[in-house]
Amino acid sequence: MEKSGAHGELALPVELTVNRQPYSETAAARSLLVLFLRDQLGIKTVNFGCDTGNCGACTILWNGKLIKSCMMLAVQASGSEITTVEGLAAPDGDLHPIQRAFAEHHGLQCGYCTPGMLLSVKYLLERNPNPTNEEIRRGIKGNICRCTGYENIVTAVRAVAAPEKEPSSRASEKDPVSAAQRASLPEEEVTQ
Ligand code: FES
Ligand code: FES
Repeated sequence: MEKSGAHGELALPVELTVNRQPYSETAAARSLLVLFLRDQLGIKTVNFGCDTGNCGACTILWNGKLIKSCMMLAVQASGSEITTVEGLAAPDGDLHPIQRAFAEHHGLQCGYCTPGMLLSVKYLLERNPNPTNEEIRRGIKGNICRCTGYENIVTAVRAVAAPEKEPSSRASEKDPVSAAQRASLPEEEVTQ
């Protein structure tokens, strides 16, 4: 049902699941998903950087897809399932192996890019468990880090990924399924 928001704006129902928890809210029709998550649900790890879909600070998983949440309206996300970085850890608080690898290999400094970066890495490794270093760099190219120079991030991903295969033994050259998986790297699948 439509309601009138605080400033007379049209407010619409938004029902969604975030990190396994259901929410039933309303949002102004023009509210960005990133601001809804931050300001209405209090999930401040979804950072608001460029507001143009370029920096990756607002990256989330939306119905399993990697998206920039500044490129979607909150009302468009109604009915969806969202994972932010909080959803990576186990329910008992145990860090995800990717999170541990970033900590152990100094894959972050100020941490501003880190929530989105971790989600991009999760997305990458689910589709390509043993990426080459080049594939890792391609997988995180939607996330700008101003601090690390990316070397430690690649090292951290390398540590949690399966060992990199020699080019001659890579399945892509023989296995069409693996080739198709590699062809579906985030570059093509990032919605915005
Ligand atoms: Fe920069 Fe969304 S805030 S991509
Ligand atoms: Fe500072 Fe990436 S750790 S922006």
